[in-house]
Amino acid sequence: TPRVFSGMQPTGSLHLGNYLGAMVNWIKMQETHECIYCVVDLHAITVWQDPAELRNAIRQVTAAYIAAGLDPKKSILFNQSQVSAHAELAWVFNCVSRLGWLNRMTQFKEKAGKDREQASVGLYAYPNLMAADILAYRATHVPVGEDQKQHLELARDIAQKFNNDFSASIIAEGFADGIFFPQPEPVITGAATRVMSLRDGSKKMSKSDPSDLSRINMTDDADTIAKKIQKAKTDPEPLPSEEGGFSGRPEAENLIGIYATLVDKPVDAVLAEFGGQQFSAFKKVLADALVAKIEPIANEIKRLTGDPAEIDRILADGSSRAREIATPIMGKVKDIVGFIRS
Ligand code: TYM
Repeated sequence: TPRVFSGMQPTGSLHLGNYLGAMVNWIKMQETHECIYCVVDLHAITVWQDPAELRNAIRQVTAAYIAAGLDPKKSILFNQSQVSAHAELAWVFNCVSRLGWLNRMTQFKEKAGKDREQASVGLYAYPNLMAADILAYRATHVPVGEDQKQHLELARDIAQKFNNDFSASIIAEGFADGIFFPQPEPVITGAATRVMSLRDGSKKMSKSDPSDLSRINMTDDADTIAKKIQKAKTDPEPLPSEEGGFSGRPEAENLIGIYATLVDKPVDAVLAEFGGQQFSAFKKVLADALVAKIEPIANEIKRLTGDPAEIDRILADGSSRAREIATPIMGKVKDIVGFIRS
């Protein structure tokens, strides 16, 4: 049976890339699937975090999940460190995954920077933990942005290698086809799977960009959003009328993709409407659409974070429901690997 899992790191506040690239699909899938959405605090500490700020960010991201439209009754919302199966399965996967596989991960190379000797071991092993997040629930669908594609491919390789390495044991445990872990499928859809910086169409929108003008935060107010869109980099040509016209114009492609996803229309329909017009006119429409979507979310985040005890209650409830699914799966993994449990 299909099961959805995804997560976000609690480091700083969420931005438009997180929302359009991933969360819009999370919200859609919540109506049709069993969904588990995690605040991945274990992943966050692969880079040192101030403990008080981390606690704050976990609540902030949880509030953003709910404010954006995830319903803690329909979906399981929780923070990773409250369910020990993630760390336990990650250790098993550290022993299944290969150094050669991790050496190919582009995100590690970017995040570790030049002084790789000083990167944490956790940052290097991060993709194994991500595979464990998904497979601790034997999840089948993983809605993410484009930048997570390589990590998802690794998770599929780990699932397959585990099934191969332990096939006899898996069959002996009652899985006649020798398959214990499914191959999780990435769900990367829409016109905003890779939202770019507002200042540079060749760079991804990210929390770590030093310029706040490069991104729209989910907590920005109306004036800030309008100012950032007004200042967003463009080129001097009018907007193209068809998708072929985006070549060499990454900023135009980015702003149109953002708008199309926001109003849930295909890109060609948006181009039919705005093609041939100047950016200035389109930017006003885009800013209005962004404000209409983000302002209520920002207000709701503020309201929810005013009651941290309530957020902690939601996380406790989600964590216990997550544990009910993950604990028996982790038990089976222990049997398959050959551990003794009582
Ligand atoms: P993270 O926290 O960096 O990002 C959370 C989600 O937002 C997407 N995203 C973007 N999408 C489009 N354009 C952008 N500019 C952009 N920036 C971020 C990401 O693709 C992601 O879907 N490793 C993951 C978290 C994770 C996870 C998991 C995800 C941990 N375990 C298991 C899925 C399943 C990460 O660091 O995402």
